Amino acid sequence: MKKAKSIKTEVVRSIAMISDLHIGSRYAICPDKFKTAEGQWLIPSSGQVSLNNSFREFGAECDKLKVDTVLVDGDMLHGQNVMENGVGLSTSNMDEQIDMGITVLRPLVKGRKLLMLSGSGYHKSVRGMNPEKCVCDGLSGTWLGPLGNVRFTPSKRLFNVHHGQSAAFIYKEMLAGREMMFSKWAQGSGKLPEIDAIVRGHLHSFMHLHENRIHYLQLPCWIAFEPSKITLKLYSKFQPDIGGVIVHLDSSDRIIPWHFLYPCPTIAGEISEQ
Ligand SMILES: [Fe+2]
Ligand SMILES: [Fe+2]
Repeated sequence: MKKAKSIKTEVVRSIAMISDLHIGSRYAICPDKFKTAEGQWLIPSSGQVSLNNSFREFGAECDKLKVDTVLVDGDMLHGQNVMENGVGLSTSNMDEQIDMGITVLRPLVKGRKLLMLSGSGYHKSVRGMNPEKCVCDGLSGTWLGPLGNVRFTPSKRLFNVHHGQSAAFIYKEMLAGREMMFSKWAQGSGKLPEIDAIVRGHLHSFMHLHENRIHYLQLPCWIAFEPSKITLKLYSKFQPDIGGVIVHLDSSDRIIPWHFLYPCPTIAGEISEQ
């Protein structure tokens, strides 16, 4: 049997990219246990335990792959679900959601640089301030706000990162293709420098496209299917991908993304026999 060949690469930077944790939702990752100011314990459901275990597995991969930076691409917190009067929340208290977010992220970001971006306006719930920034500040991270153009030095590669606002009714690849094409157009018109990678969250599903001189990374999430007015319109389409991506930048300045996807627990819609 022929010996498998391996490609040797010297990793210069290792960045974990995660998005859409939606802390505060009953369908999302949460602390293993959390005590409210009144002394009540919030205990995860079995679906949430599964998400928490997957998050720990992802953390172990980050250790193995020597991640130096964690980037959180928005929707860190779920907010108050104002449209549905708080349905589906573990707590509507934003101070508690902030503390829960810090508790979940702390082990992953320990000894690493943390970069965070804001998520969908709806989940902020509070006008004029962003509770997601409080999570970032609580972990001494760097807050990039709604948009980041980031070089992970000494790499020369430029990452354009935001949470994502747009949606594709059917093909998310179309959305990505549009953004990649327009980034080349803006570069050709002298409006933008060359963008080497576009990173987005928001769609709760994973995709990596690599074309000539540009990557598009659509990050998975940490929330199971949540029944809402929007997601129940297309039940199958809104089944999410759970996980994160570790991006390596090597000594040849290649961008090498490694995706880690985990089983999605059924929290809503368990099959029942009647
Ligand atoms: Fe989200
Ligand atoms: Fe979002």
